Amino acid sequence: MKRVIEKLEEGVFDREVLKEALLINDEAFNRELFELADKVRRENVGDEVHVRAIVEFSNVCRKNCLYCGLRRDNEKLQRYRMSPEEIVERAKLAAELGVKTIVLQSGEDPHYMPDLLADIVREIKKFGVAVTLSVGEWPREYYEKWKEAGADRYLLRHETANPELHKKLRPDTSLEERKKRYLWLKELGYEVGAGPIVGLPGQTVEDLVEDLLFVREFDFDMVGIGPFIPHPDTPLGREKAGDFLTSLKVVALTRILLPTSNIPATTAMGTVFPGGREIALKCGANVIMPNWTPAPYRQLYQLYPGRICVFEKDTACIPCVMRMIEGLGRKVGRGLGERKRIVETAEGRE
Ligand code: SAM
Ligand code: SF4
Ligand code: FES
Repeated sequence: MKRVIEKLEEGVFDREVLKEALLINDEAFNRELFELADKVRRENVGDEVHVRAIVEFSNVCRKNCLYCGLRRDNEKLQRYRMSPEEIVERAKLAAELGVKTIVLQSGEDPHYMPDLLADIVREIKKFGVAVTLSVGEWPREYYEKWKEAGADRYLLRHETANPELHKKLRPDTSLEERKKRYLWLKELGYEVGAGPIVGLPGQTVEDLVEDLLFVREFDFDMVGIGPFIPHPDTPLGREKAGDFLTSLKVVALTRILLPTSNIPATTAMGTVFPGGREIALKCGANVIMPNWTPAPYRQLYQLYPGRICVFEKDTACIPCVMRMIEGLGRKVGRGLGERKRIVETAEGRE
């Protein structure tokens, strides 16, 4: 066990070491792993926790991912679309509360794509914030348009780096389609985010190792990690949920593999385990994404059941996460919170 921690400290990230780190089921080992991730986080990205307000502006989706409650075949879900005015208004309120990044997320909803979304981005950029988009797979020209409108970052979780499992769970598309877009987004100058769902039905520990190597190989600027949570109105509704501890180990290992990436403590982590986001912030994470979707839409963005924050007042989450950060003895990020890359100079690290 000592040997595995030593290898990780030395930067030896081969398949065998990563697999052992995930498999060892020992409290003392896990504690050491989490402490190492926390140290790497502190040394590379410091004590600031960046707050990204997320507005889930439409739950309409043309895709049919097996795990997701927004999938097009879920006829039980009441669908909504926020108007551009509603979206911009919400972003403004977040900016007034001191938030420096607005994340716009939705199902793959053609209604906004690409021009309406470009207009929305242009308006929101006037508030002096960074804009992150998380709206799925579209042609390259759309990403280009949104970049020209001022979008800074793009989140497109890879879900699983196992190509066969990916195809099974996301029948409309493939891992290759995802990969193609990572290259486009990078070329266009976006900061790019990916990340796996942990505990997907059919996923093995070897698959999780490949997820870790995948995010390292692409050197993602952001990596979002969360457990699978079964939604009863999907084909995976009877499967078991992903495990919190394994997800936490994936967070910690991701920090060790990608010291300067922005890693959120995701809502799914807080949903499967009470206080899960706070724990993730102590095990490598440095970002938090308060739910900023207004009522009455918030409760309709049902990716999975039991999501935290759904029944809170719709202005609660930004002040709540700011208190959480202070409570952990950390600092609310003051800048835009873009990824900092460490540059080695003759004088040392900058
Ligand atoms: N439609 C866009 C996409 O798929 O990239 C963005 C929105 S999608 C709802 C955001 C993320 O929710 C997905 O990337 C996936 O990781 C996560 N998600 C969906 N269903 C989930 C579930 N049942 N359990 C855990 N995470 C889930
Ligand atoms: Fe649509 Fe995204 Fe859900 Fe897949 S994960 S069904 S693309 S919202
Ligand atoms: Fe939503 Fe605390 S972050 S209520």
